[in-house]
Parts: sequence; structure tokens; C-alpha cells
Amino acid sequence: MPGSLLTSGREVTSRAAPPSPTSPGPTTADAAPKPRLAVFVSGGGSNFTAIHAGILAGDINAEVAVVVSDVPGCGGWKYAEAHDIPTVIYPKTKRVEADVQWAGQALSPDALVAAMKDTYKADFVVLAGYLKLIPEGLVRGYKHAMVNIHPALLPSFGGHGCYGSKVHEKVVASGVRFTGPTVHFVDEEYDTGAIIAQRVVPVYPTDTPTQVAKRVLKQEHQVYPEVVSALVDGRITFREDGVPIMWSAH
Ligand code: GRF
Repeated sequence: MPGSLLTSGREVTSRAAPPSPTSPGPTTADAAPKPRLAVFVSGGGSNFTAIHAGILAGDINAEVAVVVSDVPGCGGWKYAEAHDIPTVIYPKTKRVEADVQWAGQALSPDALVAAMKDTYKADFVVLAGYLKLIPEGLVRGYKHAMVNIHPALLPSFGGHGCYGSKVHEKVVASGVRFTGPTVHFVDEEYDTGAIIAQRVVPVYPTDTPTQVAKRVLKQEHQVYPEVVSALVDGRITFREDGVPIMWSAH
């Protein structure tokens, strides 16, 4: 495992042997296919954009194979189309069916699972502001390969019904003085999967939920690309009790 520990202030030196200075560098023939991401969005897609920017900058060794959304035409969807990334509608909603442009195109849960594995060959699933439930079959098929970002410090301010601006309203109403994003693995429940990384920002007593959301989102755009990079590199290991440990690349 390369690098040092990223999930606490303590730095742990890698046990991996450093590369031999005499070994040849990678050649074109050695180039492995990049890990493939399926990114799920429901809204503006700023986290997706931040992750894609990390890919374009060479900081994340992956490619986006497909974008899935329950809201075709949302910001994340438009970004995908503008970058020639395939798009898929899931699930079937009244809103989709009422729109002549999209009616009949949404996938069933089984078709979604099959499409991710067989058509798009996704190695990892990244939930980036996706607000619908994920089919159990997909969660099972991507154990420790599906991540989500939540805009508060889990296990506080999470769970069913606690999403989007509601999270920040609850944070402000509670009087807590700190909040921040949590990136976690996805399991069968809402917001209960193992925590991979968190960032902390202050909450001032005079803050509005909108001000808090803005402060948290800025951190989301930093921590999520870092976690996705570690995930695709295999730089996340597990403590004996299942707690993830994220390692730096260096
Ligand atoms: C973010 O705050 C994220 O934490 C939450 O939904 C929001 C999505 O924002 N899950 P964006 O669509 O990535 O801009």
C-alpha cells in the first residue's frame, strides 16, 4: 500500500517497497485500461464536475463510462452530454413519463444493474447528489465499490428524509458549531455505510442554511475527488473491524 494514512492527523509510513530506480517506466504496451465510473446525479452536478475535472487533470486515473439520473436535463446530465458521456435514466418517475422527450426511456431496476455491469462495464459507482434509492442488486454488486457524499458529519444529520437543503437547515437549527461533508461506502440503508473521509467547516451562530451549504460544498469539491482517486487506485484498505483507511498516493 503506497503512501501515508489520510484519515487522521497521524502519518503512517507505507509498508510497500518503493519502485526500483532501475526498473523501466511504463510503456504504451503496459498501459492498463482505466477504471470505469458510473456517476449518479440528480441536480447541479458540481461534485460530478469536480471529479471529472480531476480526471481531465490526470489526478484521478479513471474514466466516466456513464451518467445515470432520475432528472434528465439536470445540470449533471447536461454536463455529461456536453462531454460526450453516455446517459441513462433511472428510475421511472411520473415526471419522466410525463415528458414526451423521455417517456418510456427509464430503465427498470434489473435493467439498470445489467447495464452497469454488461453495457457500461462500470468498476465503481459514484453517487454525486443522487436522490433516489439504489436497487439492492446494484448495492450488493458494488460492495466497497460504491460511494456517496453527504453534506454533514455523519452519523449526525443523516438518514431517511435528511438530504439537500434540509440537512443544512437541521444543522443551523441544532446550534452545532461544526459541520462538513462525509464520503462513505454505500450499504442497504441511508447514510449508514462505512465512513471513508470527512472535512470540517465552522458553523457561525449567524449563518443561514444557504451560507453553510456553500461552505460545505467547497469542501465537497476537494474531498470527493480525493476519495475517488484513492478508490480507483486501490488506496483504501480496511481495519479489522471494517473501518476504511485511505492512503495518500505518495
Ligand atoms: C451535495 O451537497 C451533496 O453532498 C448532496 O447533494 C448535493 C449535490 O450537489 N448529496 P451537486 O449536484 O454535486 O452540485
